[in-house]
This record gives sequence, structure tokens and C-alpha cells, in this order.
Amino acid sequence: MMQPWFKKAKLGIFIHWGLYAVEGVHESWSMALGKMSCEEYYKQKENFTAEKYDPKEWAKYFKAAGANYVVLTTKHHEGFCLFDTEFTDLNVVKATPCGKDLIGPYADALREQGIKVGLYFTNTDWADDDHMRVILDKTQAEIDQLRKEKVNFKSIFDTTKYPASEETKEELDGCWQRFMTRYKGEIREIMTKYKPDILWTDVMVRRPGFDWECAAVKKMITDINPTTIVNGRLGDQGDYSTPECYIPLRSLDSDWELCTTMNDSWGYQGHDHNYKDIHKLVRIFVECISKGGNLLLSFGPDRTGAMQDEVKEILTKMGEWTSKYAEAIYPTNAGLDPAYFLGGSTLTDDKETLYLFVFDCSHGQIMLNGIRNKIKRITSLKNGQELTHRKYGGAGWVNMPGFRWIDLPAEAIDDICTVIKVEFEGPIDIVDIDHQKALT
Ligand code: GLC
Repeated sequence: MMQPWFKKAKLGIFIHWGLYAVEGVHESWSMALGKMSCEEYYKQKENFTAEKYDPKEWAKYFKAAGANYVVLTTKHHEGFCLFDTEFTDLNVVKATPCGKDLIGPYADALREQGIKVGLYFTNTDWADDDHMRVILDKTQAEIDQLRKEKVNFKSIFDTTKYPASEETKEELDGCWQRFMTRYKGEIREIMTKYKPDILWTDVMVRRPGFDWECAAVKKMITDINPTTIVNGRLGDQGDYSTPECYIPLRSLDSDWELCTTMNDSWGYQGHDHNYKDIHKLVRIFVECISKGGNLLLSFGPDRTGAMQDEVKEILTKMGEWTSKYAEAIYPTNAGLDPAYFLGGSTLTDDKETLYLFVFDCSHGQIMLNGIRNKIKRITSLKNGQELTHRKYGGAGWVNMPGFRWIDLPAEAIDDICTVIKVEFEGPIDIVDIDHQKALT
């Protein structure tokens, strides 16, 4: 069930860590898109060492960045689990030289810093033969053969359109039941062991006639821990939406979170140095909070568990900005439509204070439109300077307030993103966008 903390969390960090970190290849998909055979792909487990894994150090960086929750992959589509499980030997304890549970220490380190614990767990599992037989419509012999070759599974995912034939139905039902027992069992294990604040599910390949039992799975989750929030990828059972790599153009009706990457990869890929600079990251973050969403920003540690220097630098710089402007970020809600202010904005719960996020202001003035309130004070949070402002126009006979210019001198401008605090007399009173049309 959605929890109040999530709406004020604003910044989360996403960590993709699995076998793919060993060779630095595309997480799970390098096997599914035919870049590597399954055999080559799973050989990576021999070098998954995690010897530099220091979740306490990670947690300090996340805290300093201003993140209030973190989501770590417990199992990606490759099927490799970062925790010990009775349902598969393809896990960090049984199958790698690392040999230890990686989820418990992560959860403890976050909780010590007061950060909420998110666990990613994908629905789909490409290491599970029973699951693969149903979603690819193959016999076991065909699956065995497929695992030796480089095969693009995606091209054979068209089973989502049709049910099993009469001849194969009974056998595939058996496969599905066995898979679902393991799937639900693993979820039960991570829920019981770690009691996550968020269970972040992913990719669900649906074939007619094979039931994911989403409502029962959700019930199992909340029976174990009633306060666990589930993201929007468990059929229709999610508590919030998770747009991936795109920012909704307007505020959404539901709670939401953008998930995206610091560079161009979810997991560690050593060749990818295309990190977004701090201007872009703050811009993306502000777009989210202005529309009532959170940002879940991803990186991938390498096979040793080390965090790349670029990632540390990003987290540090994010923290410099979020700590300076915390009052405009955390206790607020979605702000105004850009029809009122061409930039980002957030509003306090009592709606008496509006924060404006200004990205480009070479000419030293910004404009507000359609707001009726008297203004008590306008300040730049960069240096606390009070800003002068003037009102122009307005048509009292149709209750239209005109517009205001706010002066923004150079010393009040932040190189990354300036935050302006506008304090009103009373809760904000804006012209209704549609009403305005009727007046013309
Ligand atoms: C996609 C991808 C996956 C990634 C995820 C993050 O669903 O399959 O690789 O983990 O998005 O949202």
C-alpha cells in the first residue's frame, strides 16, 4: 500500500548489480538479444567476487546525495539472486566465489542512515527452464539446445499472443505451476528476510492461460509486511507508476517515479562514460518533483562491488544542490502548470509558499502569470536576498490578475538551478486554465 513517506522522498537511487557486472555487458539482455550464449553468459558467475563491497560506504554517499530510498536488484532477468535461496542454486552464496548474502548488509547499512530499503525482483526469469518453456513455447530439448547458441529470445516472444495448444497445455501447466512455486517462494523469502519498504517488480511476460496470480502475490507481500509499497509492474496490483527513461509531460493522477540512468546503462559497463552532467541531472530531478513524481537514478557497481568515481562525483554534486535547496524539495508537492510559470515549481502543503526553479535567466527577470494573491515576500534561496517585483496589467472586471515580473540579479542566480521562494498572503489562488479560455 502507498505510504506517506514515498511522496516526500523525492530522490531514490537504483542499483543494478548482477552477473553482468563481471564482463560489463548489458544486464541480462546481452543473453536475451543473442549477443552471448547462455553458457557464455553464466560463466560470469566464476568471477563475481564482490570483495570491495562496502554497503556502509554506499549508504553514506546516498545519504549525502539527499536520497531517501534505494532500490537494489535482488534478481534481474538472468535469474541470479544476490541472496541465498532454497529455490535455485544460481545465487551468490552457492554459485560464486563471493559466497555471502549481499542483501542483508545492504538493508542494514541503509536503515542505519535512515534510508528506506527497496528491493528489485523481476517477475521474469530466463534461467528457469519451466518459465522459459512457457514463454517461448519450447520443449525441454529445445531449451537445452537454445542455451548453447546465441539466440535472440525477443524474436521468439510471440507466445504472448496465443495460448498453449491442446497437446502441450497439460505439460506447460505443470511447468508453470513449478515456476510459480519458485517465484512466489523467492518473493516470500525476500519479504520475510528483509522486510523491504519497496518491492520493485519488473518485466512480466504474459501468455494467455498462464496466470501470474498478481492479486494473491500482492496479498502475500502485504500479509508479510503491510507497509511494503509495490511498484507498478505487478500486473494491475502496483501502488504507483514507474515511467522508464521518459518524463511525463504533465503531472500524473497517480503517484509516480521516473527511473533512469546516470550514464546510458542500468548496470556497470566499463566502456560507458557518458554520464549526464549535474545540470542535466538537476533538470531531470526538478521536472519530476514539479510534476509530483520522484526520481530513481540508476548506476551499477562493478563485479567487486566498487562504485565508479564518476558515480561518487554525481552523488556528491547532487547532494550539494539538494542540501542547499532542501526546503523547496522535500516537504513540497507538485507545483504549477507551466502556463503560470515557464519553469519548474513546487508548493508547500499549506499552499502559501511556491518555489520556482529557474534554469535559464540571462536577462535577469522572470514572469509569473494567473496568480491572484498578494505577495508577502520573494527571496532567492541562493543567497537569501529579497527580490523586487512589479505587477502589470490585470482586468478586475473579469477577475484576471495580470502578471508579475520578478527581478533576478546576477548574485542571486545559482549556476545549476536557481530556486526562488514566493510567499503569498493565504493559499495560492490561481486562474483556472479552462476558465481563462472562456473569457477570451
Ligand atoms: C527494463 C529492463 C531492465 C531494467 C529495467 C529498469 O525493464 O528490462 O533491464 O532493469 O527496465 O526499469
